[in-house]
Amino acid sequence: MKATAKAHTNIALIKYWGKRDERLILPTNSSLSLTLDGFSTTTTVAFQEGLSEDLFMLDNQLVEGEAFRRVTKFLDLIRQLAGKEQLYAKVNSINDVPTAAGFASSASGFAALAAAGTKAIGLDLDDQALSRLTRQGSGSACRSIYGGFAEWEMGEQADGSDSFAVPIAPARHWDVRVAAVVLSSTMKKVSSRAGMKRTVETSPFYSGWIDSIPNDLKQIKEAIEGKDFEKAGSIAEANCLKMHATTLAANPPFTYWHDTTMRVMHAIQDMRADGIPAYFTIDAGPNVKVLYLPEDEARVKQRLSEISGVSDVILSKPGQGISYL
Ligand code: DP6
Repeated sequence: MKATAKAHTNIALIKYWGKRDERLILPTNSSLSLTLDGFSTTTTVAFQEGLSEDLFMLDNQLVEGEAFRRVTKFLDLIRQLAGKEQLYAKVNSINDVPTAAGFASSASGFAALAAAGTKAIGLDLDDQALSRLTRQGSGSACRSIYGGFAEWEMGEQADGSDSFAVPIAPARHWDVRVAAVVLSSTMKKVSSRAGMKRTVETSPFYSGWIDSIPNDLKQIKEAIEGKDFEKAGSIAEANCLKMHATTLAANPPFTYWHDTTMRVMHAIQDMRADGIPAYFTIDAGPNVKVLYLPEDEARVKQRLSEISGVSDVILSKPGQGISYL
């Protein structure tokens, strides 16, 4: 009862920011992402009779505490689905997400865990069911089931049955590139989980965020279908700024941006003024992801690397969904 699966992380172009149900991880808005080939997690799950608890190794180190608790809680869901509540597992995950870079590996991590775990225990879930399950590990992870562009439909049901991701366009549809700009100092003070909760509960800007999402989604889907880079990039950048604006109005207010984050944002605006189409997006941390086209790769990398406070620039193409090894 052993299986291995690989999943890639994804970057949201229309952000998931807020929950309507924290236990089931049901969002207050739909979101849309691009899966990246640069950052992956490969996970082996082996269910074994005779184990009295789960074991979780990450990059060959035994994990305890909160990260372990999240994994074992997620395995509980898989055990329940399979009707094998007393069967524990050894989980071995290898991240090729540069951990020093402070990148969220939870998306690739929970997607790979869901795929390997369900297969190992003998369940045969379709993509929709797998996405619905993955969502309960970490919301953004439910989009990593698919390669290329995927939309997480928020759904309406209280039990979450209609809240899962669907594919929008495969990786081969459009070769849009993403540069992950890694900052020298990347300490994350407010987790995405805590940050979105505080924002939903206290930010007077939050209703404006929610009201604007349907149109952002409609526009960006048109742009992806028509491969209109300027349109897709500007919608993604504006959506990111809007999400971060909600945090500035939260109580207590907070921001994920560092001084270098701002320098990168300005550098991208300068690039556009110089005729290089490039757009930024930022998740719940100070690092910046830059969308650009393949023909501009050398120039974009060069200009990003020159910014003071930037320690690394990692380039990525659209990536594939779940695969089994
Ligand atoms: C800003 O998926 O990490 O990256 O569901 O609580 O695990 P939980 O949150 P998580 O939040 C991601 C927030 C985001 C936007 C996004 O990826 O859509």
